[in-house]
Amino acid sequence: MPKFAFFKGDYVPIQDAKVSIMTHGFNYGTGCFEGIRAYWNEAEQQLYIFKLLDHYERFLHSSRILLMNLPFTAAQLADITVELVRKEGYREDTYIRPLAYKADEVVGVRLHNLHDEFAIFAIPFGRYIESEEGASATVSSWRRIDDNAVPARAKITGAYINSALAKTEAVLNGFDEAVVLTCDGHVSEGSAENLFIVRDGVLLTPPVTENILEGITRKVIMELAQKELGLEVVERPIDRTELYVADEAFFCGTGVQVVAIAHIDRRPVGTGKLGPVVKALRDLYFDIVRGQVEKYKHWCTPVYAPAREKAPA
Ligand SMILES: Cc1ncc(COP(=O)(O)O)c(C=O)c1O
Repeated sequence: MPKFAFFKGDYVPIQDAKVSIMTHGFNYGTGCFEGIRAYWNEAEQQLYIFKLLDHYERFLHSSRILLMNLPFTAAQLADITVELVRKEGYREDTYIRPLAYKADEVVGVRLHNLHDEFAIFAIPFGRYIESEEGASATVSSWRRIDDNAVPARAKITGAYINSALAKTEAVLNGFDEAVVLTCDGHVSEGSAENLFIVRDGVLLTPPVTENILEGITRKVIMELAQKELGLEVVERPIDRTELYVADEAFFCGTGVQVVAIAHIDRRPVGTGKLGPVVKALRDLYFDIVRGQVEKYKHWCTPVYAPAREKAPA
């Protein structure tokens, strides 16, 4: 259990961070959120928050779509977050959840003439999917929300009923995760993660116009695949049956991290084992997020003051 939250402009004990059952965001899903991970680096005795500013830039985009006017810049939100996590004193992998929501205690569905509140809490967090080296996925019977109905590029609380329906259907049917198609039948993404496949040495992923959340991990993976593995990366619509003939496939996201898809609709993907591209990207990703790769250390925000170097004897 966390000890603190940032709530109504202050750091408060977690038990004091409560909202009424009449709160607009609770009734209508009129909120937006982020999911951010921090990784413990044992050697440096440091906790690194991954891509902190990028998350808050997306958060502010989400809030703008919901007609919110939050009184913070991304940099200010980042500072508040570092302070909250520092207060918790975590020395383990952590998940940070910022939330903005329509806070009025009124009845009436709308976005205008309401005031917004902002909150954050942070909790210790491990794996999101147990079988990270080989998850089983299924194409969901639920379709992805559409930009002209509920915009997927905003991380809107109410929109996650779409993810919840897909995830629960998949799990109750014996799979680890769902792949969700757009209304016109192309692959969009997983229930709460972006998706890549490898075909003939090329890394493919749906473009941002396929009703995906514009994932921060997705962007990182595209950059690493190009720069570090020398792979060609192509954003283009992907058909359902391309999943069946792919050489490799994987999910990526802050929560899920990088998870190989071993089976899709009970068919093996490639060999049905962790493939070389996913393995290379996974290994690199886990080193980078923990602050172990100098070249990418600027993607990681330290929470604690650096340990003082020992004085010479
Ligand atoms: C629907 C959805 N797609 C993709 C992602 C991955 O996004 P990111 O890599 O920014 O965490 C998430 C997770 O936040 C998500 O909820």
